[in-house]
Amino acid sequence: MLNKAKDLLKEVEAFSSDNAQEIENFRIKMLGSKGALKQLFAAFKEVPAAEKKEFGVVLNQLKKQAEEKINELKSSVGKGAEVKKDLEDYSKPTNLQEIGSRHPISIVKNEIIEIFNRIGYNISEGPEIEDDWHNFSALNFPPEHPARDMQDTFFVAKDPDIALRTHTSSVQVRVMENSTPPIRTISPGRVYRNEAISARAHCFFHQVEGLYIDKDVSFADLKQTLLYFAKEMFGEATEIRLRPSYFPFTEPSAEMDVSCSICSGKGCNVCKYTGYLEILGCGMVDPNVLENCGIDSKEYSGFAFGMGVERITQLKYNVNDLRLYSENDKEFLDQFKSAF
Ligand code: PHE
Repeated sequence: MLNKAKDLLKEVEAFSSDNAQEIENFRIKMLGSKGALKQLFAAFKEVPAAEKKEFGVVLNQLKKQAEEKINELKSSVGKGAEVKKDLEDYSKPTNLQEIGSRHPISIVKNEIIEIFNRIGYNISEGPEIEDDWHNFSALNFPPEHPARDMQDTFFVAKDPDIALRTHTSSVQVRVMENSTPPIRTISPGRVYRNEAISARAHCFFHQVEGLYIDKDVSFADLKQTLLYFAKEMFGEATEIRLRPSYFPFTEPSAEMDVSCSICSGKGCNVCKYTGYLEILGCGMVDPNVLENCGIDSKEYSGFAFGMGVERITQLKYNVNDLRLYSENDKEFLDQFKSAF
């Protein structure tokens, strides 16, 4: 019995074929319901006790090798045929390279930048690791003010002056400190907040904030600029609505909504039957902030606004879970292949 098993093992090792029928016949012979292996397993009890252990090992090896050999031969038969067929069609493109796609956040960020570039805004960038002055104090957040709670972030235990920026308003402070008006700039970038991660909140997201400082800049200029932006971004028929709000660094402050592009303002489940969707915060730069940054608030005035890129992307492409943006899910990302 043991010898028979060993002979079969040699037979399996030696077997080779590129003919599907031959391979199938071999499979039936070895592994079929009446095949050699079945018979050997059935004969197990007749094997003398001293040989049982070795017989068992050889049988298992035989089964494993036969299965592997047959699978290997079968798959190479299929492939061989395909390669041959492919080679016959010389007009087929060769080695197609799958190219990646831009991330939806980049697509929308670039679109926002382009819209503001067209009306003369330049781009300014700054560090993601900020100090208290640029992120909070210069922007009129007193040290113990509750407004800081709304933008809780990640601090360095050793040096509480250093934190991850909560908004790109910190970049605007840097621009104001280092230049003289007129200033017309947008600050795109990643920002951080101490939030529990869910479909609606994340510990990091992206913003584009804008700043315009010059002589005689008024709230009417702010409204006109934001109306222009909303129409460029969401379509000519878009309307805007400003609601009074509070930010330490602007006075007066407002929250801006755009008319819902799904229902054109009639009311639907996306806009929760209000006809409007909130997209950004804005206001006239507080004179204290101008003075903190070395700009004479009697001579100059200005406005600022800030929006979350994820929010705009969510509205434009109907993405309903913020976590999707950082999960690297190819099926999600592939949907944006045609968007740029
Ligand atoms: N910095 C604010 C935020 O991150 C947004 C904002 C910017 C509001 C400029 C008003 C003016 O929430």
